Amino acid sequence: MASTIVNAPCTVPSVKGFETQNYVGLRPISSLRFNPGRTSSSGRSRSIFVVRASERFDGHVKKAEMSIEECEAAVVAGNAPEAPPVPPKPAAPAGTPVIQSYQLTRRPRRNRKSPALRASFQETSISPANFVYPLFIHEGQEDTPIGAMPGCYRLGWRHGLVEEVAKAREVGVNSIVLFPKVPDALKSPTGDEAYNDNGLVPRAIRLLKDKFPDLVIYTDVALDPYSSDGHDGIVREDGVIMNDETVHQLCKQAVSQARAGADVVSPSDMMDGRVGAIRAALDSEGFHHVSIMSYTAKYASSFYGPFREALDSNPRFGDKKTYQMNPANYREALVEAHEDEAEGADILLVKPGLPYLDIIRLLRNQSPLPIAAYQVSGEYSMIKAGGVLKMIDEERVMMESLMCLRRAGADIILTYFALQAARCLCGEKK
Ligand code: PBG
Repeated sequence: MASTIVNAPCTVPSVKGFETQNYVGLRPISSLRFNPGRTSSSGRSRSIFVVRASERFDGHVKKAEMSIEECEAAVVAGNAPEAPPVPPKPAAPAGTPVIQSYQLTRRPRRNRKSPALRASFQETSISPANFVYPLFIHEGQEDTPIGAMPGCYRLGWRHGLVEEVAKAREVGVNSIVLFPKVPDALKSPTGDEAYNDNGLVPRAIRLLKDKFPDLVIYTDVALDPYSSDGHDGIVREDGVIMNDETVHQLCKQAVSQARAGADVVSPSDMMDGRVGAIRAALDSEGFHHVSIMSYTAKYASSFYGPFREALDSNPRFGDKKTYQMNPANYREALVEAHEDEAEGADILLVKPGLPYLDIIRLLRNQSPLPIAAYQVSGEYSMIKAGGVLKMIDEERVMMESLMCLRRAGADIILTYFALQAARCLCGEKK
């Protein structure tokens, strides 16, 4: 069997509700297509899904030559009808030692014997509904490839972005997160472009919501794409990142995104107290329905390199170690998680993903909130590079790494592989 990974809505037309069709199987059956929900002449959306009984049983029932009683009597009389014999024991290669089998009460391999058994006992599943697709956008009209992230582009917000979102929805990915490449001339030490209601992100949100009202839009809340210093916060003369002043800006940024139609604002800045402040700011403006996904445990990681190239957002000096966490720390993630929970976060995020599975599991065990994992740019690029160099099987490693993030306890995964992996789950080739 080609795959034991569970499929989710594939041929589901994206304009139709995602809640309605969610069938689970091993491979989508090509003959079972949902009607693409086109509007009929009556103006009502129609969806017809015809199920036919197997042809063999259509119409007449074959007349039996013997009655049940006669069949039973024949067996009782010792004349059982023939069935295929038990197949002979497969031969072992010459030279295999002949031994007495071990007396094992438990042979765990029994439950892994066949694809069907393995599928029955699979503990973790993955579906396109678990993915959030991060998309880079810019003011340009062309889509420009990102050198360090093969297959990823800075998308023109008017065209490329809309097309990419449509492709993702085709295979059941209905959640995206936006990252803007901001023109240098709009960057400043205080990052004020971040809350321009007519800035790149709010404009893109409004366009997407206009085209796809049920699309779930996550946004990034942090100053780095807008900061002339490339830091997530305001930098004081002596290099200190100013916490509360930055949070003040982030609140304005989050409200601006919510006003444009964002569903989930996601502070990725790691300032103290920002979740509570953003919650209060959103509520005071009437955005009670807008969620907060907090980057709870975001580590000062070298795996973000390709992302910073994509957005040209490398810090101009120093590093991010006074706000992002030390990769050596585990318990500290709990301190952050307790704060974010108390301040009203709706989702807790761990970042990066694969090197931090223990942190994902820690938060999963300690919190009832949904957990997100971010498979970051460096993780993506490593898999891509390994694939291009033919050192690993890109597709299998991709699917395995995503499954492992789910196994560790992630409900949702932010991944640049979202589209490719969803296509794979739907049985489509690239
Ligand atoms: C910035 C931000 C970063 C990423 C997401 N939001 C980079 C950073 O903290 O320097 C990284 C994502 C990735 O590497 O894929 N607030």
